[in-house]
Amino acid sequence: MQDKLANLLGRPTPRVDGIAKVTGAARFASDEPVANPAYGYLVTSAVARGRIGSFELERARAVPGVLDILTYQNVGDQAKPAPGPDGKPSTTSLESDRIWHDGQIIAIVVAETYEAAREAAAKVDVSYVSESPSATFDSPGVETEPHKPEKGPDPSKGDAAAAFSGAEVKIEAHYSTPTQHHNPIELFSTTCAWDGAKLTIYEPSQFMWGTKASTASRLNLDPDNVRAISRYIGGAFGSKGPNPRTAWIAIAARRVGRPVKLVPTRDQGFTIATYRAETRQQLKLGATREGKLVSFSHEGWEVTSRPSGYNVAGVESTARMYQCPNISTAVHVVHADRSTPGYMRAPPETPYMFGLESAMDELAHELGMDPIELRRANDTQVDPVEGIPFTSRSLMQCYDQAAARFGWNKRSARPASIRDGDWLVGYGCATACYPTNIGPAAARVSLTPDGKAVVGLAGHEIGTGAYTTVAITAARALGLAVEDVTVHMGDSDLPPIMIAGGSNNAASACHVIAKACEEIRRRIADAAVKSGDSPFHGADASTLALENGALSDPAHRTESLRTAVARAGHRLEAYAENVPAGLPDTAIADMTKGKPVMLGGAGRKDATAFAFGAHFVEVRVHALTREIRVPRIVSAFAAGTIVNPKTAQSQFMGGAIWGLSSALHEETELDLETARYVNRNLADYLIPVNADVPSVEIIMVPEHDDRVNPLGIKGIGEIGIVGMNAAVANAVFNATGKRIRTLPIRAEKLL
Ligand code: MOS
Repeated sequence: MQDKLANLLGRPTPRVDGIAKVTGAARFASDEPVANPAYGYLVTSAVARGRIGSFELERARAVPGVLDILTYQNVGDQAKPAPGPDGKPSTTSLESDRIWHDGQIIAIVVAETYEAAREAAAKVDVSYVSESPSATFDSPGVETEPHKPEKGPDPSKGDAAAAFSGAEVKIEAHYSTPTQHHNPIELFSTTCAWDGAKLTIYEPSQFMWGTKASTASRLNLDPDNVRAISRYIGGAFGSKGPNPRTAWIAIAARRVGRPVKLVPTRDQGFTIATYRAETRQQLKLGATREGKLVSFSHEGWEVTSRPSGYNVAGVESTARMYQCPNISTAVHVVHADRSTPGYMRAPPETPYMFGLESAMDELAHELGMDPIELRRANDTQVDPVEGIPFTSRSLMQCYDQAAARFGWNKRSARPASIRDGDWLVGYGCATACYPTNIGPAAARVSLTPDGKAVVGLAGHEIGTGAYTTVAITAARALGLAVEDVTVHMGDSDLPPIMIAGGSNNAASACHVIAKACEEIRRRIADAAVKSGDSPFHGADASTLALENGALSDPAHRTESLRTAVARAGHRLEAYAENVPAGLPDTAIADMTKGKPVMLGGAGRKDATAFAFGAHFVEVRVHALTREIRVPRIVSAFAAGTIVNPKTAQSQFMGGAIWGLSSALHEETELDLETARYVNRNLADYLIPVNADVPSVEIIMVPEHDDRVNPLGIKGIGEIGIVGMNAAVANAVFNATGKRIRTLPIRAEKLL
């Protein structure tokens, strides 16, 4: 059944919510109408470390329309500390007088209007007892410790040090990646409304049930009294999960006795939400003269806040990229006076694959070998750490197809040897990868005799086209047109699904919907084979299918859907839960408590699950000014079943462009003395515009994988960005002979 369904997926389908989005009918959280709202405005810390000495609130209270000012003094003990992304308390908000980082929320003004709240916030006078902060790596006062690996010890095998010292060819290099911020176009808003004991939260969330559970837990509420709503999300990338702000706005709404709406500014978004932490990495690769890896060592350092141990430890993925008998990895966290970082699109792989894929290019150069051939020589269908197979791995198919399309054969191996007028021309490539995850999920599907279906699950439309993939799956499973399926998501009153993170939601949602639809098909078929006036009387119900708006059998006999559904009960409704094999029976219950439960990547016992890809980039560097241009990108991905190639194309392309951005543009710059960000606004935080990305070609390499999960869906939310930064750095080396190991690569680094 599922194999058949997998074959029906994959037709390019326009977004079912496209018109709602372009006409403004789609409601984002802060658009949801609430009665008589008051407005919040955040006051944030102007120092990065120390304590609040005192607040002087008279001037602020005197602003007409001010209703309340929340500080640690009047509400600090009313919410349990918010857990950080690593699950441990991350005290970064209103709990106490302690200041952990620049831009920390220290007060919330509530007023009749947004303008009054903003004016009053500017009039909150704070005196600080400030201390000298530690900004980042190398700052005095940072504390470094080994990270605590979640999934057992860091990958290691054999004796990497001995193999490295004996290797015929070796490279050793350090790489670094900067602080980066998500900057989703939709701001980090929260609106809370109480109706007696019942709390409704309107907030963009990648985890509806997590937002519900975390707020209930922090405020000691019965979770049944908490509802979270987030029907559309204007970009998230890992930044919009359960967070410290929600509970404070709920408290504010309770205090003023009416709904409170908070829409923080874009600048505040740089310090009140999570971000991508800077990393440093050391790579050591040893190889034979033929290019076979004999030693792999990857060590990382990541900045985090004082209280949090958050880290992403991308060595879990890099250690599995290539065959190698001797592997050594380690990761350290560096505690500084910074806000706690968090997930940001492909959190481990984006920085760590920059290190590995740059190092592979350096090794290829050292060996005098083509970079693709170096990958081919070390390609493997077996996870080099665990010794178990990959569920499927089409890395070299990605390289071969993208190389052909790109025209890699025109590359000159000698750096700085191709010139077109004043431009130095270089080609580069690198591997993309992302672990394949699937999580528990539940869904409700109903079908009426007129062939209309309604699907409900608390899924997440973070811009990826989730409403459309869900509608496609139900339509194909029930033999309906996509437009005959209505999808409800983004509401914790609907059945739970895991956090939209780790690229799991397409697999998690499609599987549970397939299950609910199969239950409906079975009930229709059972009723048909039992009925004397059905053409299928006495037939084997398992052979009957819902196709093209009818019930049919392998001999092409058909009966109209209306008749078949009416016989089975007019309005059929099925509820299904799916707990993927390998997860505990408690997975659904755990998820409703807000625990992230998913399985994939190297966490499976039977096989290691990854999607793979390959990026190719042409770089042009101006011989005199060192201006860097990227006239074209070709990227190929093999990620199992692609549910909707139309939105997948956009997702891959967006990822590749963000990778380019991470290579050439993005860095949140820190003032090292004050540990404050300098370019905390979208005008100074550089990202590419259309003129920076004239051509991106995406190739979807067909891949059938019935081992990864029954529908063969690998998930594509994150892989697109991975490795692109290295592909650009490798192309810059090919163009100029300069190896840039510190991102972003800007003209001044090429002078
Ligand atoms: Mo993604 S960074 O797992 O939302």
